[in-house]
Amino acid sequence: MNQKLIYEGKAKKVYQTQDPDIVVVEYKDDATAFNGLKKGAIIGKGAVNNKVSNHLFKLLEKRGIPTHYEKEISDTQTLVKKVQIIPIEVIVRNIAAGSLCKRLGLSEGAKLKSTVLEYCYKNDDLGDPMINEYHIKALGLATEEELDTIAKYSFLTNQILTDYLKDMNIELIDFKLEFGRFKGEVILADEISPDTCRFWDSKSGEKLDKDRFRQDLGQVEEAYQEILRRLMGA
Ligand code: TMP
Ligand code: ASP
Repeated sequence: MNQKLIYEGKAKKVYQTQDPDIVVVEYKDDATAFNGLKKGAIIGKGAVNNKVSNHLFKLLEKRGIPTHYEKEISDTQTLVKKVQIIPIEVIVRNIAAGSLCKRLGLSEGAKLKSTVLEYCYKNDDLGDPMINEYHIKALGLATEEELDTIAKYSFLTNQILTDYLKDMNIELIDFKLEFGRFKGEVILADEISPDTCRFWDSKSGEKLDKDRFRQDLGQVEEAYQEILRRLMGA
């Protein structure tokens, strides 16, 4: 591809297109964890994340959530709207896992009485610290109106994905979303994939996501392929 690379992150590259409103996102097999401290590769991850993310964005669009998705152009590349990313990681939790267990002393898998919404400041140098609505307003990261939209779309996404994945015997434990501004609107951006969600098999509780890489559980590639298979019926 001879397009100009405009951004390279830990798991994705972004290229310019002829259209100033559209960019190409290319998903890589590279994997990092713990703010880049652990590095590796998960063979086939780029293609899985591209296809899983596009599949879920199309579902969410149908249900009324605007997303950056435009068109899949190859196994690992997709055309998306060029948004201005709002530097907030939105985390939605249904079941206790990961950093929530460490922070609050909960055991992994503990049921939460209600859905938890968390915000982190997207800043690698600071290690993506957790922030609240007041920090977001004080730092000017998003307006109150934008934050209301972000919270509304995040809860709705949780509802839609939880119901959808249940039929595939996948329990949606938690996930991370990012939003962007496009022509004055807040839309869902980035990705929704085994890199950014915790997916557990509903029956066995087996982890089918990036925790297999983070925690050295083995069968990492297989877990990513299994998610793709269940979603696409492949
Ligand atoms: P956590 O329990 O480590 O805070 O993660 C919560 C969710 O967010 C989990 O589904 C994984 C996802 N996540 C990301 O997508 N990117 C990140 O950098 C981190 C730390 C978590
Ligand atoms: N993606 C993040 C990193 O590279 C963290 C994670 O997903 O666990 O550090």
